[in-house]
Amino acid sequence: MSTLPRKIIFDTDPGVDDAMALYYALAHPDLDVVGITTTFGNVYVEQAATNALYLSALAGRQIPVTVGMSQPLVKKPETPPDYIHGADGLGNLPQRLATQGELDPRSSAQFIVDMARQFPGEITLVAVGPLGNLATALQLAPELPKLVREVVLMGGAVLESGNVSPVAEANIWNDPHAADAVFTAGWPLTMVGLDVTHQVILPLSLFRQIAEHHQHLATDTLCHAVAFYSAFYSAHDAVVGQINGCYGHDVLAFVVLTDPELFTLQSGRVRVAVDGLAQGQTIMQRKAVSYPQHGWHDDIPHTQVCMRVQAEACKAVIEATLMRDWMEKPLLALIL
Ligand code: BDR
Ligand code: CA
Repeated sequence: MSTLPRKIIFDTDPGVDDAMALYYALAHPDLDVVGITTTFGNVYVEQAATNALYLSALAGRQIPVTVGMSQPLVKKPETPPDYIHGADGLGNLPQRLATQGELDPRSSAQFIVDMARQFPGEITLVAVGPLGNLATALQLAPELPKLVREVVLMGGAVLESGNVSPVAEANIWNDPHAADAVFTAGWPLTMVGLDVTHQVILPLSLFRQIAEHHQHLATDTLCHAVAFYSAFYSAHDAVVGQINGCYGHDVLAFVVLTDPELFTLQSGRVRVAVDGLAQGQTIMQRKAVSYPQHGWHDDIPHTQVCMRVQAEACKAVIEATLMRDWMEKPLLALIL
């Protein structure tokens, strides 16, 4: 097994916890973010791409950023949740600096396919938004499951309640048809759902400490965004409110790669309810028996599902990683 940093394509809808996750990945020496593919979700896709470019420029990194899906494959699109992430996805930043960086002209799906063909067996897809880019990449290149190293997604819930309906988590809810295609594609797949992300509450004070430590625009921006996001979670969830914080959802999709021993996984088939009352539910077959019913045949591939996490250790890893010396000078555009 190679000891080089793992090549990551980060598929994302930034989004405050997406921004946390991106900075975790940039800060971690074992991860090499070779592309950021954006999608609708927390914001419209154009804003997601703008945010991905902006966040990477603030951290002094030039990483290809693509624009992807603007709406679900089948269901009607919904208005982005500006009350959670802000209308700009980053907690309504009071101002933005002019930064360098242009979008890659390819679609997110095409970029994923191109990179997987260029680096067969090397790319890990970390997907933390609705899954239309991955589903479209599968349509473009049915051989994709054999080309990528593995896929980790933040989404779904097995035993935990949903966060947009009693059973549905937001990323799966936003494009259930795409999600079902991803769960049945047959690639090595790990699901990081609410069963674990709801165990890890990150206090706003942590992001204040990180910003204080670095004295850098990137971590100031993250701290501003987390303050907005924490205000939402703290007002809506009594447990989170007790420590004035938030769920780090997306960042756990990277922690499971860098510190897998902190998670307990269970293997089983996962399918997605695409419509009806249970729309967006991730249904996991947890017993090793054969079900003859349509949709549960033995040839449906397994997903590794994160069922438990060591929350305190996970928080410590996030803190230690974001405290590292990882940022470059921001890539600011010359204003003439
Ligand atoms: C997921 O939904 C989005 O709001 C977050 O960024 C995360 O990916 C949590 O349900
Ligand atoms: Ca997200």
